[in-house]
Amino acid sequence: MRKYRVGLIGCGRIGTLLEEDPLRGKPCTHAGGFRAVKPAQIVAGCDINPERLSRFGRRWGAERLYSDHREMLLEEDLDIVCIATWTHLHARMVMDAANAGARGIFCEKPIASRLEDARAIVRLCEEKKIPLLINHERRWDSHYRKARDLILKGKIGEPRTLIGNALSWKPGQLPVAVHGGGPMFHDGTHLTDLLLYFGGPIDWVSGHESRPYGKKYIEETACAMVRFRNGALGFIEGGGARKYFNFELDIQGSEGRILIGNAGRALYLTRKSGRFTGFHELERVPFPETRRYETPFVGGARDMIRCIQSGEPSLSSGRDGLKALEVILAIYKSAAKMGRRLEIHDGY
Ligand SMILES: NC(=O)c1ccc[n+]([C@@H]2O[C@H](COP(=O)([O-])OP(=O)(O)OC[C@H]3O[C@@H](n4cnc5c(N)ncnc54)[C@H](O)[C@@H]3O)[C@@H](O)[C@H]2O)c1
Repeated sequence: MRKYRVGLIGCGRIGTLLEEDPLRGKPCTHAGGFRAVKPAQIVAGCDINPERLSRFGRRWGAERLYSDHREMLLEEDLDIVCIATWTHLHARMVMDAANAGARGIFCEKPIASRLEDARAIVRLCEEKKIPLLINHERRWDSHYRKARDLILKGKIGEPRTLIGNALSWKPGQLPVAVHGGGPMFHDGTHLTDLLLYFGGPIDWVSGHESRPYGKKYIEETACAMVRFRNGALGFIEGGGARKYFNFELDIQGSEGRILIGNAGRALYLTRKSGRFTGFHELERVPFPETRRYETPFVGGARDMIRCIQSGEPSLSSGRDGLKALEVILAIYKSAAKMGRRLEIHDGY
């Protein structure tokens, strides 16, 4: 059987290089994820940096190497195109891959820098029936999937308060025009996507931010109060000028609580208090662990092949990526208007 021919555009950190980090769970890159699934074969790569390109070729045994992605798309008859370049390039490259006949496109987050570009690529891929997967990778992580199952099964009752933090160091003086946004945009896109994954659609946001270098430069911190359509309230924060990185979601329901993030996961359920007569309190109980864990990059590659073969939607689709982008850009816009509430329209 012919294998799915995979080509990678952008042989940088998330495309391939992070595999060299001895501390990370593997695989942890696009190339590593697709190498791990049998029906796929990495055949080609493209980067404008020749050193990175040849390093990619050596590592994955790909002989077809290009400095121009359009040339690669024209020459290689690729089934799956991975896009791991800088964010402002994603939309153009998704369009080029879709128009060149790719059967599936695996694109880094954030989906695009501008909402109109994100809408255009989601529409184009839907019209052409090409699965567009956005690498909000925790959607393929079995721990996060288990947490969502618990919520959907009512284990913590009705979700009432959802808090998400992606706390990180002080960013430099980087122009928005080049970088699209700061911590709320880059790490916050994972967080926003998960708030939507756990809490459902968001109705409005009220944003706040600090921009020590002025409006033309990325934020140091952005945060927002959000209201979910189901009535739950939320708080989201990206940045925060910390010495550490902490990515965490705290989902508090009417009968329990789930904490999940880079530091692990915990489940709390309501129990009769042993300390106060007539009270109930939360007690930590074992989080139901999945039997076999594989890194989400393998899950993403498997999901891509499943979508191509079945025509079913992805667990992390272009539409999901678009919704996250809409929320983030609304947070920035609301913050610029002193926190005025802005309605969210689900990406469209
Ligand atoms: N999912 C995640 O957890 C995660 C982690 C890191 C980065 N990212 C995202 O991945 C993307 C890349 O980030 P990175 O940290 O790997 O950056 P990087 O700079 O390490 O890699 C990007 C690569 O793209 C190449 N490139 C730039 N323009 C190109 C072009 N026209 N044609 C071909 N190659 C080109 C660069 O030379 C570079 O090697 C960003 O959108 C970022 O937000 C996601």
